[in-house]
Amino acid sequence: MSANPAEVKYIDARAGSGRRDRRSWGELEAELATGLRNHWYALIPSDEVPADKPLGITRMGEDLVLWRDGDGRIRVMSDKCPHRGAKLSLGKVHSGGLMCWYHGWFFEPSGQCTSIPSEGGACELANEVKVRSYPVEEHGGLVYAYFPAEGTPEGAAPAEPCPNPYELESPEWNGFIVRHHWKGVNWFRAMDNLIDPLHAPFLHAGTYTLNKTTGYKDHIEVRKNEDGSYFVGRKGQALVNFDFTEFHFPNWFRLDIPYPWSAGPGGPMRILVTVCPIDADSCQVYMVRKRKITGWKWWLWAFLWHVRLENKMWQVIDQDEAILASQRVGEALTSEYLVQGDTGLVTLRNLFREAVAKQADAQQDNPRGAR
Ligand code: FES
Ligand SMILES: [Fe+2]
Repeated sequence: MSANPAEVKYIDARAGSGRRDRRSWGELEAELATGLRNHWYALIPSDEVPADKPLGITRMGEDLVLWRDGDGRIRVMSDKCPHRGAKLSLGKVHSGGLMCWYHGWFFEPSGQCTSIPSEGGACELANEVKVRSYPVEEHGGLVYAYFPAEGTPEGAAPAEPCPNPYELESPEWNGFIVRHHWKGVNWFRAMDNLIDPLHAPFLHAGTYTLNKTTGYKDHIEVRKNEDGSYFVGRKGQALVNFDFTEFHFPNWFRLDIPYPWSAGPGGPMRILVTVCPIDADSCQVYMVRKRKITGWKWWLWAFLWHVRLENKMWQVIDQDEAILASQRVGEALTSEYLVQGDTGLVTLRNLFREAVAKQADAQQDNPRGAR
């Protein structure tokens, strides 16, 4: 896409001032279709990882095996046995390690092979064999893993701390993790949607919470917050609909949805949304829906949620998924006509342009380990 007037207008005003990758967005997005490395991603809720057997999932375009070590800690490794490529997720968890089903090679939580049965078990050869493992943290019921850039030496510390929004683990905030697998939706389409408050009164017209507006003509303003995140919000409307989002580069958002009285006491619903590519054509979105309520108010909300509100939420999510899957990505990116209302999306793309340029510079300075 050649930069259109809307993009040029906000290139320097809204995002940071670093060097930017100037390729067309279509080209850049194709390169980042399965994620930007050197960042943390929320992979799955902890309660989906079984206690006693491995689980195979795909994220970031990679097959991954998740399993719990002898202490119950979740480990994330490449789901590919170094012997002959069988899926380790078909193997067995025992004695605090993971054993491949095919020939019984055994791996420690670090990914180090410690036994090759056909060679007599523990042997020198085993010392040379390791499965790629990724740093893992759990916060508020979500499993995060850090994906380093290609060429980063194994064991290198993550370049940044794992995101841990304060509401996730606060006893004052209660709620639910809502799980969406969006098929046919690249992770950028999901994020374009989350940084675009102006779609709500149209796409979600007629729904329980997202049908209200004080007017359709409005402007989007973008401000950089002290913590480095970006506020993207409507200028002419607040606390009426999905009116703002807070974008935390590269993959999570904080937003508030006003709730009517019929949703019980407790003010607006806070949504922490995290997006992770599955492959180039689908993504996993977790929406942690919270309210700052405890005690009976929380129990009342939980009751209303299960009997009534959750169904209404799925109506909204289905609308988002249908419209996002309808965007033919390759075509759409060469013929977009962005306007002022798309300023959030332009900001997001500029931040990715900067990050890609920065990683390329680091790679040039240190070809063995991009940072
Ligand atoms: S493929 Fe895993 S032990 Fe042979
Ligand atoms: Fe939406």
